[in-house]
Amino acid sequence: MAAFVHTPVLLREVVGGLQPRAGGHYVDMTVGGGNHAEAILEASAPDGTLLGVDCDPEALAAARQRLARFGNRVELREGSFARLGEWVAPGSCDGIVADLGVSAHQLETAGRGFSFLHDGPLDMRLSGAGGPTAADLVNRMSAPELAHLFATLGDEPRARAIARAIVRERERAPIVSTRQLAALVERVAPRRGQTTHPATRVFLALRLAVNDELGVLEQGLQAAWRALRPLGRLAVITFHGGEVRVVRRFLREHERAYEVPPGQADVPEFRRPCSPRLRRLTRRPVVPGTAELAANPRARSAQLWLMEKLAG
Ligand SMILES: C[S@@+](CC[C@H](N)C(=O)[O-])C[C@H]1O[C@@H](n2cnc3c(N)ncnc32)[C@H](O)[C@@H]1O
Repeated sequence: MAAFVHTPVLLREVVGGLQPRAGGHYVDMTVGGGNHAEAILEASAPDGTLLGVDCDPEALAAARQRLARFGNRVELREGSFARLGEWVAPGSCDGIVADLGVSAHQLETAGRGFSFLHDGPLDMRLSGAGGPTAADLVNRMSAPELAHLFATLGDEPRARAIARAIVRERERAPIVSTRQLAALVERVAPRRGQTTHPATRVFLALRLAVNDELGVLEQGLQAAWRALRPLGRLAVITFHGGEVRVVRRFLREHERAYEVPPGQADVPEFRRPCSPRLRRLTRRPVVPGTAELAANPRARSAQLWLMEKLAG
C-alpha cells in the first residue's frame, strides 16, 4: 500500500470549536488518516478518549498507525458512521467531528476509481462491502435516470447531453475506466475557461450515488446528535452543495421551536411547541483562510459547521 498522505482541512478551527478537555469522550466519524483525531487526543490529554470510525479499511490501517501512541485512549471501528448508535451510548459524547467525503489518498489511488486524473476502473465504492460500482450505474441506467442523477447530485448543467452521449458510447463498448468517462464528458462539455475539469460534477454525482452518501449523511447526523450529551458539540466539514443542503436541513430541524410527530407533514396543525435543541456556534460556516488555501488547494470548497446541543 502506498504511504497514506492527506493534509487535514480546518484542523485548528475544528479543535477550537470542539474545545476538547481532559477526561472528555470524543468521536471522529470519518477518522481517515487520523489527523483530526490526533489533534483532539492531544488537546484532551492526559485521559480524553476517542472512537474513530471509517468505512474504508485502508484508512483505518493508516489511522491505527498514526494514533498508536495514544494506546487505550483510542478505539477504532470499521463501518458506516450511520451505525454510530451501535457503538456509543446516547448522551455520552462531549464532541464529534465529521470531515466528509474522500481523503486525498483515496482520490489519488487509481485503483479506487474516484479521480478522472488517474486512469483506473470506474469503481468509487468507499467501503469493501460490495454493491454496485460507478461502472454498473453508467452502463445500466437509462438516459433520463443518468441525467436526473447528474443534475440533482452533481448540479451538472449539461446533464441531459452527457447522459445521451454515455448511452450512445456504451452501445459500442461498455464504459469501464475513469479516463474513458472523463474524455467522453470533456467532448460533450468542453472546458471553457473554468478552472475545474469538466467531468468534476459527473464524478461527484456518481460517487454520491454509489455510496448513497447524502442518505447516509442524514442518518449519521441524527446518530451523532443522539450520541452527544447536552452542551456537547458537533463539527461537520462539507465540501459541496449536496452536503450543505443536508446539513442546513438538519440545523433548521433542531433549531426551530416546535416538533412534528414522526411521519407527519410539517404543517401548523401538527406542530407542538418545544425549546430549540441546537445552537450554532458561528452564524456562518467557517472557511479556510488564505494561508491554508495556498498550502492546500483541496480546502477551497470546505465549510465548517459548528453547533452545540442545548440542554433538553
Ligand atoms: C476527508 S477524509 C477524513 C480525513 C481525516 N479527517 C484526516 O484528517 O485524516 C473522509 C473519510 O471519511 C470516510 N467516510 C466517508 N463516508 C463514510 C461513512 N459513511 N462512514 C464512515 N466513514 C466514511 C472516508 O473513507 C474517508 O476516509
